[in-house]
Amino acid sequence: MQARGIHHLGMAVEDLDAALSTYERLFGAEVEHRATVPDQGVEAASLRVGDGRVELLEPLEADTPVGRFLAKRGPGMHHVAYEVADVAAAIARLTEAGADLIDERPREGLFGLEVAFVHPDSVHGVLSEVVSAAVPTRTWVRDAWENQPRG
Ligand code: CO
Repeated sequence: MQARGIHHLGMAVEDLDAALSTYERLFGAEVEHRATVPDQGVEAASLRVGDGRVELLEPLEADTPVGRFLAKRGPGMHHVAYEVADVAAAIARLTEAGADLIDERPREGLFGLEVAFVHPDSVHGVLSEVVSAAVPTRTWVRDAWENQPRG
């Protein structure tokens, strides 16, 4: 499977507002989307940082994947997301290549994008996500997508 590049880095944070202001102040980050996603137990923000992107994740409760991550490891890097053309095809290729997939089929990730996660044990300890940015499924995401500068 050939990834197109890094789509975003995901960070687990304890306080989303504080983290947002840090990224704005230190790196000139701009908020692209912000949403509460009860399904995934997070309040999340996607930030543009120049040509790159950072996703900040604050758990809604302790007993959520990101909440458990914070309790175990503290705030910091949570995952790396690679952009791919087609998430279903990426899952097939990754499986063929022996990777342990958390998602056996594409699912809707944050901000309406199609995603799948690869178990950190298959990537030397790093939770890895594949994301197809080409086909946002929700109108408000598509609008933001079409209006953003492309690098
Ligand atoms: Co992500």
